[in-house]
Amino acid sequence: MNTDRIPTSQDSAGSLAPPFALQANFAYPDWEIGLTGTSAESPPPFRAVNVSQVKQLSPFRYPGGKTWLVPEVRRWVTGLGVRPSVFVEPFAGGASVGLTVAVENLADRVVLNELDPDVAAVWKVIFGPSDDCAIWLFEEILSAELTEPFVRSIIDSEPQTLGERAFRTIIKNRCQRGGILAPGAGLVKAGEKGRGVLSRWYPETLVKRMTTLRGIRSRVEFIEGDAFKVIEHHASNPAATYMIDPPYSLSGKKAGARLYLHNRIDHERLFVDISKVAGKCLMSYDDTQEVSGLAKQHGFDINKVLMKSSHHKILHELLIEKT
Ligand SMILES: C[S@@+](CC[C@H](N)C(=O)[O-])C[C@H]1O[C@@H](n2cnc3c(N)ncnc32)[C@H](O)[C@@H]1O
Repeated sequence: MNTDRIPTSQDSAGSLAPPFALQANFAYPDWEIGLTGTSAESPPPFRAVNVSQVKQLSPFRYPGGKTWLVPEVRRWVTGLGVRPSVFVEPFAGGASVGLTVAVENLADRVVLNELDPDVAAVWKVIFGPSDDCAIWLFEEILSAELTEPFVRSIIDSEPQTLGERAFRTIIKNRCQRGGILAPGAGLVKAGEKGRGVLSRWYPETLVKRMTTLRGIRSRVEFIEGDAFKVIEHHASNPAATYMIDPPYSLSGKKAGARLYLHNRIDHERLFVDISKVAGKCLMSYDDTQEVSGLAKQHGFDINKVLMKSSHHKILHELLIEKT
């Protein structure tokens, strides 16, 4: 497979024909991304890594973000044979996949949903009706003089407006370790080249990304709410297409890690609800027996994704497809 070209609707199956090489960017900048296999039990040997350019659209550096999956999801969406009337990302987080679908106009409409009110504040400013609020946020970002005391004062502040809440989220996301927004996350210490809190602070880039997204807001609806409700809302629409990227399952290795304010969901219920939707769905999950058991129980296809860290550690993730 030529992984360097942009897929078109002429491409064959919409399903995930393995092995499919994945290209990566910097969801985790120090990771290289590997290939996939068909079986959750027997991974294929690791193959060439092609770390190429995935355009970063999100203003977030999101823990568990799926920027690296963008090329594969793009191929899947364009190969479905039917243009989605709506592309739904119920656990949006940094929304790298949904944003790509919106910017590349791969669906009539994109619905992003997120429960965390801090994350939601950023999306509400970007996709909301108020230019004043968006301009206020952009100016705050561009004029901020980041020092550790300033960062701490913003993080400890109690926002009074949507803009202030969005600004606090951006500061937390850029200056806390791993971009983690959950309570208890500490500040980046040395960071890149010892730049500390400044090491992930690129104000012009952030504002440019947000301005681009604001330009396509007529195609994007953001909802602050529960993923299950959004899935239910679109369940009867056969042309609704879903990218589901929930928090890790309870039995996974990362189950203890507090990456998100809302870290727990009912995974069994999620599989049941997805089995009932009329549209097509791709789910990204940690590789556990619990998850592959649920996928098999509902007759979903399982593909395995291998990611190789720069320390040569192989990390697994499952891509589960409901056709
Ligand atoms: C794995 S992350 C999504 C990352 C995203 N795909 C990206 O590329 O950045 C899961 C997200 O689900 C959110 N979440 C957890 N429970 C939720 C719920 N019941 N409804 C909506 N969102 C929820 C978390 O706050 C978190 O942002």
